Amino acid sequence: MSTGTTAERLELSDVQGLVVRGYGKLPCAAYVLLHAPEPDGLRRLTRWAVGRVTAGDDSPTDRAVNVAVTADGIRALTGWTDLPDGFSEPFRTGMDTEYRNRILGDTGSNDPRGWLWGRAATQPLHLMVLLYARDAAILAADVEEVRSQARAGGVRVQRVLTTDELRDRDAFGFKDGVSQPTIAGVSDGADPPEALLPGEFVLGYRNEYGQRSERPLLRAAEDPTKLLVRDRSGAPDLGRNGTYLVVRQLRQDVEGFWGWVRQAAGDDEAKGEHLAARIVGRWPSGAPLALAPTADDPALGDVNDFGYHDVDPIGLRCPVGAHVRRVNPRDSLPPRPGTDASLRGVRPHRLVRRGRTYTDGDERGLYFLALNANLARQFEFIQHGWLNGNAFTTLDDPDDPLVGARMHGPSSFTVPGQPVRRRYRDLPQFVQVRGGAYLFLPGLRALQFLAAGPRTGSDQHTRGSDA
Ligand code: HEM
Repeated sequence: MSTGTTAERLELSDVQGLVVRGYGKLPCAAYVLLHAPEPDGLRRLTRWAVGRVTAGDDSPTDRAVNVAVTADGIRALTGWTDLPDGFSEPFRTGMDTEYRNRILGDTGSNDPRGWLWGRAATQPLHLMVLLYARDAAILAADVEEVRSQARAGGVRVQRVLTTDELRDRDAFGFKDGVSQPTIAGVSDGADPPEALLPGEFVLGYRNEYGQRSERPLLRAAEDPTKLLVRDRSGAPDLGRNGTYLVVRQLRQDVEGFWGWVRQAAGDDEAKGEHLAARIVGRWPSGAPLALAPTADDPALGDVNDFGYHDVDPIGLRCPVGAHVRRVNPRDSLPPRPGTDASLRGVRPHRLVRRGRTYTDGDERGLYFLALNANLARQFEFIQHGWLNGNAFTTLDDPDDPLVGARMHGPSSFTVPGQPVRRRYRDLPQFVQVRGGAYLFLPGLRALQFLAAGPRTGSDQHTRGSDA
């Protein structure tokens, strides 16, 4: 572990299950987006949900329920006009602000004015209920139950984002969900050396900098019944065991992607597949190009224990600009690739990804869901610095060939080669943002606290600490 600190054990019974599992045994899923004109209805619905939430120490076989809340949702539930400072700034102000549109690449065809949901200018999203089920019948019944509970409290269902039945391929046909960070302190026994400290993904624990992640701390008077865990200073810790959930609906232009690849490869099918794999950095089976440079090798489909520096320093196998190499450069981060400094530099920029694919009429894509304790340093850094920019790389290409927003004008993709490299120009945009929001996935006690409604002494919270 980079800090030399022994990881604290996560309080799994208070953490929502999504943090530690992707519910792979529950192939059906839907995310219900809710707006409450009246706070009482929202409180009632949240109280109903509290009793159903799946915790990190459950192993559900039929269904799972997790609940996330937006900043507007917390304001409505608690009656606070301002959220405690310890809530991160991106969460408090939301995904759709002028500044964030710019840094996330939500301009041009990604502009929130064209979004299906999540726009700041529309009726605010308050709550998202995430439902997972063993089969479609259970899921349909659970969606109906949320609808009827919502109706009873005058809460509006804005949208139900129903996913495809779980499969391991994304809409372009590539295996997804292979690489996930290991969170220390989850399982009994020693953590592997690559495990990241739990504070990277859960508030209230030490992170890779040896600090407790910034989190909302309240005044003792705001929690008279001591529902919340006290931090070391005695302040009720609303953040403890919670985390931030990024949700983005990403439409994938499947025909556009394969059409462009085919044409760029001169209608040669094998060359086309190789170019597509170079764009992703893994073959359709999941095999990393760093280990399978010339042809797909399904036996390597789940392999995640590899680096780039020793086998592929300049990207002859896996281009430096490939999607997976941009979003996780592993041991090849400049200025000192191949050193511990490079590995350490990447560790604070990891995400737990929990996305699932969707089909909606002709539209196919990914409900991208990611969990992190620090929205600015993790999701936004990766999105802004690595996907839509060149931070920490020596790349000439302006953005990610697969996912990039093409916000810097014409895109390009460089495939290093000997004796000469090949540069593809004017890549179309293959992925378009259709909606999105930042949410908080509270610990179970914190969710109970929020559902209980306003307290005395609101709006004079203690400052969040980062010590
Ligand atoms: C529709 C959009 C996207 C598609 C089709 C896509 C596809 C993929 C695929 C096929 C992989 C390789 C499989 C794996 O390692 O799990 C992957 C990995 C990954 N993607 Fe994406 N992705 C998309 C959007 C994003 C976005 C928006 C982010 C972050 C802001 C992101 C971050 C990552 C990360 C961190 C990895 C793991 C890389 C590693 O650790 O080696 N992806 N993605």
